[in-house]
Amino acid sequence: MPTRAPKRDLLSIADLETDLPRVLRNAARLKAERRRRRGRSSLRGKTIALIFEKPSTRTRTSFEVAATDLGGHAVYLSSRDLQLGRGETIGDTARVLSRFVDAIVYRAFRHADEVELARTATVPVINALDDREHPCEIVGDLLTMSERWKGKFRGRTLAWVGDGNNVHHSLLLGAALVGLDLTSATPAAYRPDPSIVAQAKRFAERSGATLRFTEDPREAARNADAIYTDVWVSMGEEAEKEARERAFAGFQVNAALVELARPDAFVLHDLPAHRGQEITDEVLDGPRSAAWDQAENRLHSTKAILEELLG
Ligand code: CP
Ligand code: NVA
Repeated sequence: MPTRAPKRDLLSIADLETDLPRVLRNAARLKAERRRRRGRSSLRGKTIALIFEKPSTRTRTSFEVAATDLGGHAVYLSSRDLQLGRGETIGDTARVLSRFVDAIVYRAFRHADEVELARTATVPVINALDDREHPCEIVGDLLTMSERWKGKFRGRTLAWVGDGNNVHHSLLLGAALVGLDLTSATPAAYRPDPSIVAQAKRFAERSGATLRFTEDPREAARNADAIYTDVWVSMGEEAEKEARERAFAGFQVNAALVELARPDAFVLHDLPAHRGQEITDEVLDGPRSAAWDQAENRLHSTKAILEELLG
């Protein structure tokens, strides 16, 4: 009997490690093919389950459209409608779904639940955002940056302005993997998790990326090639809203901050945006905004992720 290759999960962007450049190249090819209306059938006969504990516009739509475009099928399962919401365990859900589908995409509140699903599922599990990481977002974001920098990350500096959260964690690891310099400005109480920083530093030693940390958004933005921000209050943190809005008050990406960056710098936001908080209308709707390309690229990069793990 032929032995089956071990399943591959994508819980952290670090799980792609040296495969990340190949995934990005494939995402760019998939984008060009879609523009020429050329399809692939790499997921023919395959079904993916999408378990979402939180709302989603981009991630859910990316996976549903990606599965269809590649000849496969996606089943959306709100955690409210699953027996999971009535106390069936994650392990039992994983065991059962593994007999129906070829991969499980999971947006979870807790990273520990993501790990538990991956441990008990016998099919690949893809993290569609949890409280620790958002790896699928960063694959799309690196595609967006790569397009604007003609495929070269080395010598470019990205400024992060905002919360040292899930998106930032994956960005730190992703930048360190591809050799992109990153200066991260967060309030002292909202720095990234030290274990992620340590892992990113190990990757940066190999790639040559420089990672810097500051509490001053202006210092990060000065001479940056791009500025990236995210919401101040992430899904599940609503109880901290007032404290967070106070802490992040000086961390808005507005025209004055963007003015400090390089003349050709662009602005990234994973969306949804809270306009008037972490980013102004003027910047998000302005000529420097890359946010709409970034959103579109979620589709192409999601396809590349599915081909990498299921192909
Ligand atoms: N950026 C992102 O993941 O958006 P959604 O929450 O709409 O999926
Ligand atoms: N940090 C945000 C990202 C949303 C895509 C959140 O977790 O809500």
